[in-house]
Amino acid sequence: MKLKVLVTPGDGIGPEIIEQAIAVLQEVVAMSGHTLDLDERRIGGVAIERDGTPLPPDTVAAALDSEAVFLGAVGDDKFNSLPPSQRPEAGLLGLRAALGGFANLRPVFAFKELTVNSPLRPEIVDGTDIMFVRELLGGLYYGQPRGWDKEKGVAFNTMIYTRDEVARVARVAFQLAQKRRKLVTSVDKANVLEVSQLWRDTVIEVAKEFPDVTLEHQFVDAMSMHLMKRPRDFDVVVTENTFGDILTDEASVITGSLGMLPSGTAGGKINLYEPAHGSAPKHAGKNIANPLATILTGAMLLRYTFGLDAEADVIVKAVRKVLERGFRTQDLARTNPEGLTVLGTREMGAKVRETVKELLVTA
Ligand code: IPM
Ligand code: MN
Repeated sequence: MKLKVLVTPGDGIGPEIIEQAIAVLQEVVAMSGHTLDLDERRIGGVAIERDGTPLPPDTVAAALDSEAVFLGAVGDDKFNSLPPSQRPEAGLLGLRAALGGFANLRPVFAFKELTVNSPLRPEIVDGTDIMFVRELLGGLYYGQPRGWDKEKGVAFNTMIYTRDEVARVARVAFQLAQKRRKLVTSVDKANVLEVSQLWRDTVIEVAKEFPDVTLEHQFVDAMSMHLMKRPRDFDVVVTENTFGDILTDEASVITGSLGMLPSGTAGGKINLYEPAHGSAPKHAGKNIANPLATILTGAMLLRYTFGLDAEADVIVKAVRKVLERGFRTQDLARTNPEGLTVLGTREMGAKVRETVKELLVTA
């Protein structure tokens, strides 16, 4: 099989981590007789500089002509003075909208070796395995009207959802829960917001299609606390765009580093895969960024777009083995450097590739 993937490395550490993840994908798919058919386009700050826009039309066209899009990261402090619609992030939001994926899956699981990196106690985080389903195309990010009247000193955004937008993302959450521990936690702010009341009513309706799955509700403020106190109690968590953005950064504390969190978007014409972390411009070009979130994102791409579960499993296993053997990027070695080998971005990528090979030979 030829896997047609558009790569958009983006800004900051994006190009470095994407390079390593692609090299791992090449290794895995080659061993099972597949090939990657790659194309590369600009997005974000690099595109603003070269093309005058964060999302050049040829990037959208190439994305729509591919089977999956693999994105590094976008964003750079040098564009901080620009209005939101002209910043690098607008490129990513435009691409998400063009592709149509509305369910952003962000798995949060604790690697045993990394629990020492979490500021939470190991007995709290050990065994955590949560699938966040973040609604990605609605809410405050896209809601109209929006604006900023500088003269009056007033700015506003709109958190808006239709029943259909809620129902479709809820269905994805219930379907995932059916294959997992059969619990869906829906997060809202229904004690204050009408949009959350609609959210909650709709999720309750959709739940009737899935009698084998238990549904519970949490307010987002309380959820942010429960996540830190009892993360193991959650299975699938579904929530709207902004709440999901915030809660998943918070949940990365469980895994020890935001550098371990992959993500993939489902439900669109073409699905988009991107690590949950940002472009970390201050780490760019220093060979210190952690490529593991992006490598794990590559595994999600193989699993969800191409159905290559065995290949995806090999990548996850290889990452686990590399960690078991004491290899770390610097973000994962701050708290307990004894007995660990700290690797650069390229060396970590090479180590995962080597381990993938080893696993494929012994399989
Ligand atoms: C994320 C990021 C993006 C978001 C930014 C870069 C627009 O924070 O993927 O979580 O807010 O969705
Ligand atoms: Mn975010």
